[in-house]
Amino acid sequence: MLTKYFLIIFLCFMTLGNWASSQNKLDGSALWFTHSETNNEGQFACPSFIYMPQISPTFAIINKELKNGFDKLYNKEVKQISELNSNVLCVGTSNQKDLSVYFKNEELIALGNDGYIIRTVAGNNTIIIANTDLGALYGTYHYLRFLQTNNIAKSNFDIVEIPSYQRRILNHWDNLDGTVERGYAGHSLWQWEELPEKISPRYAEYAKANASIGINGTVLNNVNAKPDILKPEYLEKVKVLANTFRPYGIKVYLSINFSSPSALGGLENSDPLKEEVQNWWKEKANEIYSLIPDFGGFLVKANSEGLPGPQDFGRTHADGANMLADALKPHGGIVMWRAFVYNSNGNDRAKQAYDEFKPLDGKFRKNVILQVKNGPVDFQPREPLSPLFGTMQHTTLMPELQITQEYLGFSDHLVYLGTLFKEFLNSDTYAKGRNSTISRLTDGSIYNDSIKAIAGVANIGLDSNWCGHHFAQANWYAFGRLAWNHQLSARKIAMEWLMQTFSHDPDFLNQMSCVMMESREVAVNYMTPLGLHHLMGWNHHHGPEPWCEISGARPDWLPTYYHKADSIGIGFNRSSSGSNAVSQYAEPLLSVYNDPALCPEELLLWFHHLPWDYELNNGRDLWTELCFRYNAGVEQVEYFQYVWNSLQSKVDKNRFNDVQNKLAIQLKEAIWWRDACLLYFQTFSHKAIPSKLDQPKNKLEDLKKLKFSMTHHN
Ligand code: GCU
Repeated sequence: MLTKYFLIIFLCFMTLGNWASSQNKLDGSALWFTHSETNNEGQFACPSFIYMPQISPTFAIINKELKNGFDKLYNKEVKQISELNSNVLCVGTSNQKDLSVYFKNEELIALGNDGYIIRTVAGNNTIIIANTDLGALYGTYHYLRFLQTNNIAKSNFDIVEIPSYQRRILNHWDNLDGTVERGYAGHSLWQWEELPEKISPRYAEYAKANASIGINGTVLNNVNAKPDILKPEYLEKVKVLANTFRPYGIKVYLSINFSSPSALGGLENSDPLKEEVQNWWKEKANEIYSLIPDFGGFLVKANSEGLPGPQDFGRTHADGANMLADALKPHGGIVMWRAFVYNSNGNDRAKQAYDEFKPLDGKFRKNVILQVKNGPVDFQPREPLSPLFGTMQHTTLMPELQITQEYLGFSDHLVYLGTLFKEFLNSDTYAKGRNSTISRLTDGSIYNDSIKAIAGVANIGLDSNWCGHHFAQANWYAFGRLAWNHQLSARKIAMEWLMQTFSHDPDFLNQMSCVMMESREVAVNYMTPLGLHHLMGWNHHHGPEPWCEISGARPDWLPTYYHKADSIGIGFNRSSSGSNAVSQYAEPLLSVYNDPALCPEELLLWFHHLPWDYELNNGRDLWTELCFRYNAGVEQVEYFQYVWNSLQSKVDKNRFNDVQNKLAIQLKEAIWWRDACLLYFQTFSHKAIPSKLDQPKNKLEDLKKLKFSMTHHN
């Protein structure tokens, strides 16, 4: 009896010990595959058998994912059978006749390459069907996600999904030396030194994570590209990555340096209208496609921030892009030409991309797509939409979003970007009347574009949790989900992610989805409220330096150029009495942005320089409202801390501590932002901070002396 008693205690300890150690391993490395739970009723959804008649590398992945999925979700091994029976999950493509017979021909054709149907048909069988193996893979991930994130008492599916964009791409700003520009999650994933011989298991994990949310392309290297990436030895390495990614449907693209023909090929120069330069690119394209037959194409940053480009030879962006497009065309490749350009010519920086590209509308080849950042300046916490969207009516455009938090607290701040991405995608340009939203302009609904694409600048690195902050994973996830379906709501995406990553606990989900949904606005409040922008530190872009002056620096790299605070007021006058950037927008946006009384308050100081005592909608004057907003930002981070602490019992220890520590940094830095901005702007407004608000904890002179170090971020 005693032995039995001890045995029970021993087993309890063992179980607890195992639980504790498995909990301790919750370091974020499993991404949104960390947590698996269904409600009890979900058991009914578990099929009795799997029927998967086809064989291919992608179907091998589907098989593995389903096996693991059922094992994790239901602790059950679901046997394979070789025919439709009852309660069978079938996965196949439309040329599998015994499956396609259950579907209408038109609905299968409408799925295109990547779409899928998940439907329960006669005999209580559920079929995942697509036109391609990859479509079947996407359907499988959807099915597993659905089982996990929905309350289903019975398996009764009728889901049809066709992606919003054909090309759903991550842009890595990874350098060949292993560093990542604007990367805050450690070094680059790509181990160039070890490739092509050694293949890190992380490559396939990366591909799986992307495929699970529908991402199907990756630009491996920084837009500030070194010519070396096109050297044969690097292409051999790229080939190995492409081979690893292929069964997951991830195409590889490369950023190229426009001077490659002269830098690598020894040509006199890289003038795009010279035949020898054109031939060099054609041969390079042939070489690449002989190694990587499904290579996606090139991403190009040219004549931007000091990089070479066609203008060096008196040619246009279109000349440069078209030359590359011609080289890639025979192989089916595309050119993503970036519109991120601005000169130090004294013009309002926010107007320059439009001024440079508008005259080129209609001059680009069909396999060129212009990659345009969401806002006219540079991934600020809040910007209006870039006026290029809607203006370029004869040129294909793709949005470029930033997933990495260059201007949003790096990987130290909890800032969920699903809301920012949605705000942008839903913005109405009015280019073709009402409802000319960015999403409809770029997904083919309004223009019959041959390429439909969207890109996000990746936030991924070698850190064990991939993104530096556990919650930054949600931004990678949200980008992928929206690239697949831009109609999803930011809240739904947050809930899905929380359930798969953390917990199904209703209280946890409720509280943390609210935190996530508010977090971007909170960051705007403590960094750049009311349309302020570009107030951050020089070069590293972290923390506030609204006072920053660097002798000899380009004015448009300095915060004073953007906030223009003076004794009268604050803000950049982009109205018709100022730089007239408003004229680049279609009506009624033009009139709305032009008039401070109509302009949305969140963009007020983006478009207007207004007096300190300018009265806002709520009756407060501008200075007081700024004080309130900065203060609210800080209080909201305090509230996030409170919420997180209250959820301690619902989160594993590791991740609880990690996030708790990050929130402490976020609070410290929110206070830093508030104090620095208010104390500095106060030197112009000469007004007091309302006494009912927290008074600054720091002195302006001390804050000015603070030097931010990048070391803890790399
Ligand atoms: C920003 C960023 C740079 C980057 C550039 C770009 O300016 O700070 O690091 O190279 O955008 O998008 O090209």
